[in-house]
Amino acid sequence: MTTTPRTVSVDLPGREYDIQIGPGVLAQAGPRIAEMTRRPHVTIITDETVAGLHLATLQANLEASGLTSAALALPAGEATKCWAQLERSVEWLLSEKVERGDIIVAFGGGVIGDLAGFAAAVLRRGVRFVQIPTTLLAQVDSSVGGKTGINSPAGKNLIGAFHQPSLVLADTDLLSTLEKRDFLAGYGEVVKYGLLGDAQFFDWLESNAPGMAGGDMAARVQAVTRSCEMKADIVKRDETEQGDRALLNLGHTFCHALEAATGYSDRLLHGEGVAIGCALAFELSSRLGLCSQEDPSRVRAHLKAMGMKTDLADIPGDLPGAEALLDLMAQDKKVLDGKLRFILARGIGDAFITSDVPSDAVLKVLKDQL
Ligand code: GLY
Repeated sequence: MTTTPRTVSVDLPGREYDIQIGPGVLAQAGPRIAEMTRRPHVTIITDETVAGLHLATLQANLEASGLTSAALALPAGEATKCWAQLERSVEWLLSEKVERGDIIVAFGGGVIGDLAGFAAAVLRRGVRFVQIPTTLLAQVDSSVGGKTGINSPAGKNLIGAFHQPSLVLADTDLLSTLEKRDFLAGYGEVVKYGLLGDAQFFDWLESNAPGMAGGDMAARVQAVTRSCEMKADIVKRDETEQGDRALLNLGHTFCHALEAATGYSDRLLHGEGVAIGCALAFELSSRLGLCSQEDPSRVRAHLKAMGMKTDLADIPGDLPGAEALLDLMAQDKKVLDGKLRFILARGIGDAFITSDVPSDAVLKVLKDQL
């Protein structure tokens, strides 16, 4: 397997862009952005952790291509996806005199990508931005597809816009600075792609993911590339989630309830909730007679083999009861005409969207685990 960079194209008419994936692709930032902008000045929104580790490298690379840059480093963590930090970012971009034709760089994980992308969407009614995702979760999911936004006290990601990036540079070298827990949380989104639409990819992950977590670069490039190919394909079909894009929410109805129940805290990272949510979605599918009983066991066995949280009991601290979790699910954005929408599966790699799920079946799955 090769570790040379790979390219995935997101062919949205009039808003096409490339995702470059591989070790060292951060070095393409200068040359690629220099081609895209007339004014040789770039603004970067990042977080304090990423700034400490990688900002000097990015800025030196931009400078080598004749681009000056200025950076705003926000506090790391989900709490940054709020109105106050959005206002701070937009006002900072205005103070930097960012023009319509300029490029804003989102340099960080999902929080920074979502917030900086939203700032770019609303600034001067839309400025182009480049995603340079630094976490596995951001490289395989949040940096691709144009969902941008912030959280509200009423819920996660409730304020936002679709605004596609103009380029994504997913440098797989940057993944080596991640804590193991963060890497595995991002892996929750990788495994989701196999489960929702590519059984062969899931087979491949069963054999190769342990090596990938251990640092196998070729496996990392392959996993990020396949995830981005699948996401690009779905986003091309359904950019604004009128249909198929909801498949990407496999495990997320459970996950969002669990994140709300744990206060969006360190008790449960988003990707960990996705992994548990995928296991629960397969359990529910099996109990509804949609897939075989072996499928949920296989999903859980793989997550466990990766050392990941798999069951509700793996979440530290107390959880509310099954009824309260079901109420939290009813707050989800995916509720349509008051009905909960679930992504269920007919088998590994064969997910579908349905509103036809009896709540007592969901309650039973939750009660049996609590
Ligand atoms: N993260 C799900 C989506 O982009 O649609």
